[in-house]
Amino acid sequence: MKKMPSWLKTANFYEIYPQSFCDSDGDGIGDFNGIISKLDYIKELGFNALWLNPCYLSPFMDAGYDVADYYKVAPRYGTNEDLYRLFDEAHFRGMRVILDLVPGHTSDECEWFKQSCLPEHNKYTDRYIWTDCVWNRPQGYPLVAGNADRDGCYMLNFFLCQPALNYGFNAITHPEWQISYTDERVRATFDEMLNVMRFWLDRGCDGFRVDMADSLVKNDDDKSATASLWRRARAMLDGEYPEAMLVSEWCNAPRAINMAGFHCDFVLDHHGKLVYNATRNVKDGVNNSYFCKTAHVSAKETMRIYLDELCQTKDNGYVSVISGNHDEIRLSNALDERGVKLYFTMLLTLPGVPFTYYGDEIGMRYLSQTSKEGGFQRTGSRTPMQWDDKAANLGFSDACRDKLYLDVDRSADAPCVSRQLTDPSSILNIVKALNKLRAENDELQADAELDVIYCSDDGVLCYVRGADMAVAFNPTDEERSLPYAINGALFTVGGYLPKDGATLLKPQTAVIFRLNRR
Ligand code: GLC
Repeated sequence: MKKMPSWLKTANFYEIYPQSFCDSDGDGIGDFNGIISKLDYIKELGFNALWLNPCYLSPFMDAGYDVADYYKVAPRYGTNEDLYRLFDEAHFRGMRVILDLVPGHTSDECEWFKQSCLPEHNKYTDRYIWTDCVWNRPQGYPLVAGNADRDGCYMLNFFLCQPALNYGFNAITHPEWQISYTDERVRATFDEMLNVMRFWLDRGCDGFRVDMADSLVKNDDDKSATASLWRRARAMLDGEYPEAMLVSEWCNAPRAINMAGFHCDFVLDHHGKLVYNATRNVKDGVNNSYFCKTAHVSAKETMRIYLDELCQTKDNGYVSVISGNHDEIRLSNALDERGVKLYFTMLLTLPGVPFTYYGDEIGMRYLSQTSKEGGFQRTGSRTPMQWDDKAANLGFSDACRDKLYLDVDRSADAPCVSRQLTDPSSILNIVKALNKLRAENDELQADAELDVIYCSDDGVLCYVRGADMAVAFNPTDEERSLPYAINGALFTVGGYLPKDGATLLKPQTAVIFRLNRR
């Protein structure tokens, strides 16, 4: 493996959407002190690293992905000092914390953008992408006209509230307003992002999840120009902060890792590919998720893109599979409780650096509802964490119900940490057991080889990590045979029976065992 932050090899991440995790001051919204109060819980579950969604100053038109000031936290979460204390408290427990870096755009309320909107030339005139005059509005670009005194249209990167920072163009089609990605004005924009990174790294942050990492340079079809910018970031980290990590939301690991120098890239659903997609591949009312008990589909397609990315990035970086995130419909929407347990068995036994989204460890439900802070359909995956069935608002907050950021799950059987802690077969305790097994066995961690040794058309999958650590799945609702003997399991969901030197896997079963290949 290329030189990497030493802790990544054993890293096991937990993602926190700060709004909804734990409210320490009773104002109805989560905060840093709330997170600090739950560090022991996260550690005991076996996670050793956190990713926090953006917690910077923001008008929250896109849940904080519209940053107004990269150097200040949003007062609703506490102060910068509270966040530094969160870094310290995490480090004290042997845990790492990464922040979300949003390099492609700011909020339209960011001071840089306000300055850029002025007709007079100033330091921020070229910080964003503008056309040369308000009437110049070529087709095919997301341009906004007539919203500023400056004579020009500005380009968006995502929502209307998110003007694109200027990283130039690779193919220049309109030279009157497009500049090259090698232009010194682009360098200045990227230098500022490097300074943002330095600022937080100097204060104890351990790295960044990089939002829309592939979006920087425009007209960059092969992403070579965007990658060249990120290689500068990696060189800066290698020189100044060799223990800091970058994980990209790029969704193309060969490009993100091999070309751009990210340590990790998420395998996400954006391009309809991957392992994750296979958990909730619901089309026209038919659930074809590999882990859905009635699907009976081969894992081949599920694994194909993942295996290909794994193979192409070998020794250069890590592929990161997730249980879900703040943009995805929750896992439990497509899978029953057993299916969720089987999914976690895969997530936590694959190579690379896994990420679990808060609440997935108890099978929290997707609660469809009106959009909040630009969440739209994603809002249903962003509801408050369910800590305690006996406490007000399930232990998330002491505020009155109408003050809550989002309401908690009010159903009588809402999954809760308190109940699951005492139930040995709960999702929570399965996740805990898997994390422990992963932490205790090199073969289950980031680096060990993965070899798929069996993949049947009727749903059985078996892979080996390292020399002999085998993981077998039968996610279907029928018994299936596995052509290997299991002599004692290290971990089981479901059950199995020996049969003529092979094994009968009961419905919805996963087993981790030492494979005897003789
Ligand atoms: C990423 C984030 C998403 C956000 C978007 C724009 O995809 O995960 O939540 O809305 O970027 O920043």
